[in-house]
Amino acid sequence: MFGVLPPGVRISESFSEFQEQTLLQPSPIPCWPSTLGSLAAGVIRAQGARSKVLVTSQGAGRITLELLRGCTSLEVVHVSPGLADMAQLLSSGQLAWEQPLEGRITEQREFRLTQEERGEGALLGAKNNSVEWIRAQLDDYSASNNLFQVVVADIRSSNSGDMIRKLGDLLDTGGCLILGSIDDVDDQSSSPKHSGGVLSRYFDRVPCVNNEASYPHIYKETRNKHQFAISYFSVWRKKTDQTKALCAASEAGDDVRDAVEYYENDKILNSYDLFHFGEGLLSVKNFPLRMAEVCLEACDKYKARLELALDAGAGPGRTAMELCTKFKQVCAYDYSHGFVENMLSKARTAGLTNLEGRQGDSHAQAEMYPGRKFDLIFGCNLIDRLHTPALWVQQSKEMLSDSGLLVISSPYTWKPEHTEPDLWLGGRVEEEQPLFTQDGLEKLLGPELVLLEAKKVPFVIPDSDGTFQYTYSNCTIFGRSK
Ligand SMILES: C[S@@+](CC[C@H](N)C(=O)[O-])C[C@H]1O[C@@H](n2cnc3c(N)ncnc32)[C@H](O)[C@@H]1O
Repeated sequence: MFGVLPPGVRISESFSEFQEQTLLQPSPIPCWPSTLGSLAAGVIRAQGARSKVLVTSQGAGRITLELLRGCTSLEVVHVSPGLADMAQLLSSGQLAWEQPLEGRITEQREFRLTQEERGEGALLGAKNNSVEWIRAQLDDYSASNNLFQVVVADIRSSNSGDMIRKLGDLLDTGGCLILGSIDDVDDQSSSPKHSGGVLSRYFDRVPCVNNEASYPHIYKETRNKHQFAISYFSVWRKKTDQTKALCAASEAGDDVRDAVEYYENDKILNSYDLFHFGEGLLSVKNFPLRMAEVCLEACDKYKARLELALDAGAGPGRTAMELCTKFKQVCAYDYSHGFVENMLSKARTAGLTNLEGRQGDSHAQAEMYPGRKFDLIFGCNLIDRLHTPALWVQQSKEMLSDSGLLVISSPYTWKPEHTEPDLWLGGRVEEEQPLFTQDGLEKLLGPELVLLEAKKVPFVIPDSDGTFQYTYSNCTIFGRSK
């Protein structure tokens, strides 16, 4: 989901090639903004005449770069809040930026134009192209009655009907809309918020190569967290009998919009339950289930007893319930009463008699279980939500049995709103050296506990805007040094 991303993330999405292996099916293409730009350039070239083109996205400017590379005689206005210093790229031939890795740790990245593209005005005057870069949301852009022959839009919202109306109003009658949309434009939803109904009402579909093709794509927010989406490519021509403003025409659908928003809220409420008790997504296995397997495999491998386990910050409790199949007794708690109720009700339905669930705060874990020693303590996607994570880590270390394992898994998405930066266990630069969280944990737990194993376990969460988070939880398994 775009929105509050550091600028480097948007620039990486636009100007880096994603080449890593993932478990995702369909597997992502290397760079969607570049692909959309090349596809759009092909459509515009086929039109021949000099064109006034509006490009709009949340991205860094790559779509327009590909238009300038692939076309001549364009007058482009590019509107995006996430624009890189594109004027600098076109004049110097290179762009440098910082990609976030973990917390405040970043890495330097660079993009270069080819030798031929670097000459003064090579992509502009020499090709009869011009471009105006506007760092703004489209809503804040005033076209001052300027109409465009072509609009190229990369829309990352599942209900893009309003946006498409707005773009339609910026197009000349008969103008061409080149769309990358995560709304499936072939879905003829009656909702005025969905693209399908709006497009078929105000536009004619233009047949073209790659029309109807879908493109899975991904970008990195940190080294563990990614955003994945599938965009549809399609081309449309504004109907010539369309003289009224499209935005004004939307008002009749307001009552339907309320129902859609209600549904969205309902979806958010159910998402955690689905994450724990639903199927995996995009071919990535159900994560809480996979984590239970990882814990049980580790107990077997490192000879931990299977008497008593603790799931800290258990959420709706799927992992705790799976641990019940092998452990004699499992304790699980969460700060949220709602999650705990959900867990206890599911456990009753499943006939589990060895799960002890309760509400509780990880910072006071020792007080909740006085005198008890655990053969497994599992804290998953928890440490970067705690105000003082070291407090929970220290208590957990004290609460392990002799052969016990402490399994801490997290994407290390450190944020000041959850944890003061001074209290992050990593993701910081100390004495000019990056301190990654895995190393911070080793320092905190040693010498009594040592890192036996670390592995990245992926999970997929659907966002309400139709995109997906693809994240690695870095699972660290600690045990006593022999
Ligand atoms: C990202 S969820 C992870 C849930 C589950 N462990 C999983 O991996 O799916 C973080 C969980 O930590 C819980 N949590 C946050 N702060 C907590 C605290 N101080 N004590 C206990 N649980 C807490 C939240 O209620 C939430 O269920």
